[in-house]
Amino acid sequence: MTAGWFITFEGGEGSGKSTQAKRLADRLTAAGHDVTVTREPGGSPFAERLRAIILDPNLEKHSPLAEALLFASARADHLEQVIRPALAAGHVVICDRFSDSTRVYQGYAGRVEPRLLEALELIIVQQTKPDLTIVVDIPAEIGLARAALRLNAPAAQAPSERTAKQPRSLLADRFESRGLDFHKKLREGFLEIARLEPQRCVIVDGQRSPDDVAREVWAAVESRLFTEAR
Ligand code: TMP
Repeated sequence: MTAGWFITFEGGEGSGKSTQAKRLADRLTAAGHDVTVTREPGGSPFAERLRAIILDPNLEKHSPLAEALLFASARADHLEQVIRPALAAGHVVICDRFSDSTRVYQGYAGRVEPRLLEALELIIVQQTKPDLTIVVDIPAEIGLARAALRLNAPAAQAPSERTAKQPRSLLADRFESRGLDFHKKLREGFLEIARLEPQRCVIVDGQRSPDDVAREVWAAVESRLFTEAR
């Protein structure tokens, strides 16, 4: 059993989950918790190197399984170097995307056999499953429009709104640039996971104002985690 809490944020492009991850971290820190905020793919130096490869918009056509293995490799390192040590030290770990993104992007909406992904998840994640997953839900059309705005006006996004230390690329990454049908499928996939795992997952409506979403996220954290005895 881990000492800390593991909270993940999931959702499609432009859902506002990174902003919400940061806001939750600030609120937990203000309440006196030790907090580690991180992201996937990435979160450790090695995994950030893999991120740069995986999301490179100029990448040659390659095998979907090979790509899934890179996500898995990045996750294995991130878990070993960052997530497990932080949890063992009693931190609340807030991760912007985790294994549900693999299930949805590579499996549900992608081209990798879900059973292979399940096997990889068992090997890599092991017991380090999220205690709580917040799915920030938004219609694909709206999320894509928001993501496009962010790309066109990168300076308008305050650095404090970014989860990770590195700036975003000025180009759409390989997943952002996929068509509307792919993004609709992503939304379905995240909602399906939340439906199948209601003890772990909470869906929040990402179309509401950031303040309203943050309130809903906080209510979920309080009711789902901090009332539980450990
Ligand atoms: P981000 O834009 O939220 O930082 O995520 C980077 C991209 O990587 C996003 O388009 C989703 C994608 N992704 C996957 O396809 N599989 C994964 O397992 C993860 C963590 C992210």
